[in-house]
Amino acid sequence: MPLVTSTDMFQKAYQGKYAVGAFNVNNMEIIQGIVDAAKEECSPLILQVSAGARKYAKPIYLRRLVDAAVEDTGLPVVLHLDHGEDFEVCKSCIEDGFTSVMIDGSKYPFEENIALTKKVVDYAHSKGVVVEAELGKLAGIEDNVNVSDREATFTDPDQAVEFVERTGIDSLAIAIGTSHGAYKFKGEPMLDFERLEKISSLLPGFPLVLHGASTVLPEFVDLCNKYGGNIPGAKGVPEDMLKRASKLGVCKINIDTDLRLALTAAVRQFLTENPSVFDPRKYLGPAREAIRKMVAHKIRNVLGCSGKQ
Ligand code: G3H
Ligand code: 13P
Ligand code: ZN
Repeated sequence: MPLVTSTDMFQKAYQGKYAVGAFNVNNMEIIQGIVDAAKEECSPLILQVSAGARKYAKPIYLRRLVDAAVEDTGLPVVLHLDHGEDFEVCKSCIEDGFTSVMIDGSKYPFEENIALTKKVVDYAHSKGVVVEAELGKLAGIEDNVNVSDREATFTDPDQAVEFVERTGIDSLAIAIGTSHGAYKFKGEPMLDFERLEKISSLLPGFPLVLHGASTVLPEFVDLCNKYGGNIPGAKGVPEDMLKRASKLGVCKINIDTDLRLALTAAVRQFLTENPSVFDPRKYLGPAREAIRKMVAHKIRNVLGCSGKQ
């Protein structure tokens, strides 16, 4: 089974009111943990690579590792560029065999974002590759953020419709209160579901994407802190909110921080409990297993894509 695009995956997810997990990959153990979970759960899967991950591992290593994972498991996998910041990086990934790219022009004014996104869409579509773009800026809803600040950063529903029509994108990342990393909310976690419902109702059948969707699972934060870490106050998106979003047109849910925490917690625990061990396989093995378990949990209990392959 070669790499696939997300077109059919998203259509099925939209109709079935579930989401497909998009997991960030940086090395072999992360890829193996994720892929093993998806295989066990018979789940569709998106593996995504950031510019930082490409730089860290070198593009060819991640590309070949993903090929190996696909060949080894026979899984239909989407290989996606996460947060491509310009046309060149999107083109480079398309030439490298990625089946999906994100052009993130969210920091630009509306018209510039449209022009950049459209340029990527025209090129990608001519090569059979699908495109995700972003409108609005990711930021948590803090207690002291007033309505006009929120209006300035969250995705405007009418603009979303115009953006989709004028760019021809295949999916749209929206800003409704999530943010990247482990510190998403100062107060109670809160997402703007009213806005999500509005966007979704104006774009029926169109796949939406939720970035910054890690839950920052307390079990991993606690383990990190128990074994020498210092990440107090970490707070993510509760899993019931992710479930709710997946029923409202969100077909792709991005998870990176939860992978980082699961891996780091396992390594910290192992090395603290086994201070004389220095064989990387001994501590990266449990880290890979922690990732497998966490991803299987997300697929089965949160995203709803178990058995949807
Ligand atoms: O959205 C960002 C992802 O978590 C990737 O992070 O750029 O540090 O690889 P990164
Ligand atoms: P988290 O930091 O919440 O895992 O978000 C990851 C993401 O959105 C990658 O694009
Ligand atoms: Zn993101």
